[in-house]
Amino acid sequence: MIIAKDVNKNYMQGGKRICAVESADITLGKGERVYIYGPSGAGKSTLLHILGGLSRPDQGEIKFRGGKNIYEMSDQKRSRLRNKHFGFIFQFYYLMPELTVLENVMLPALIEASLPAKRIKDRGEQLLKTVRMDKRSDHKPRQLSGGEIQRAAIARALINSPDVLFCDEPTGNLDSEMRQEIYGLIKEISCKNGMSVIVVSHHALVEDFFHNEYFMKDGRIERVGVGVRASVARKREPVEVVR
Ligand SMILES: Nc1ncnc2c1ncn2[C@@H]1O[C@H](COP(=O)(O)OP(=O)(O)OP(=O)(O)O)[C@@H](O)[C@H]1O
Ligand SMILES: [Mg+2]
Repeated sequence: MIIAKDVNKNYMQGGKRICAVESADITLGKGERVYIYGPSGAGKSTLLHILGGLSRPDQGEIKFRGGKNIYEMSDQKRSRLRNKHFGFIFQFYYLMPELTVLENVMLPALIEASLPAKRIKDRGEQLLKTVRMDKRSDHKPRQLSGGEIQRAAIARALINSPDVLFCDEPTGNLDSEMRQEIYGLIKEISCKNGMSVIVVSHHALVEDFFHNEYFMKDGRIERVGVGVRASVARKREPVEVVR
């Protein structure tokens, strides 16, 4: 689904160069669910944004479904591809403050305009029910708790049935029960529709969710294993949890 090769990204800050991502290679198959963990400042969000077509790397290429490098497309084509095929749950959720919860959830589908507005509304309401937010659909984001904002953002990310779901700390504000539920929902959709998932998080792994695990530190990413074996490796070398 996604093949990224030799991805590099530096930031210049006060005359100093910060190497946020260095020579990163990652492949994501159809329906594959991948977990990237590592300490704060490791470059996880930067890499996720590059893979999702949101931030141009200094070097390297990202191909979606065997097409050309997405950064060789026009900005317009790339944003079209993002809206149609990718879903994002960001570390900072970016709900539109002037829209209600339901309108926020419907927005990516209204932009895509592949369904009539009534169908989009039904689907939005259904997704809000799934994340137990149906009683808050008329609220504006400022009238929500942190966890509720997060759940609205999750529903919004799923509205266009994306091929790839990019999640940056997707459940940071949720209690463990809700976290299990959200991962359960994402897994169900992933199994049913072949949706691929990349999760970046400090949180402990949800069992039986991920196919592959990567560890990231100082901009470098390495694959640490698959499923159960990987979680054993992680216990020996605990992740530095900064938050
Ligand atoms: N726009 C920017 N300008 C300068 N430096 C930046 C910028 N964005 C990020 N950085 C730096 O790049 C490094 C990687 O940042 P990134 O946000 O990718 O880390 P992260 O692994 O997601 O961390 P966290 O777990 O805290 O979210 C950090 O050292 C950060 O300070
Ligand atoms: Mg981050």
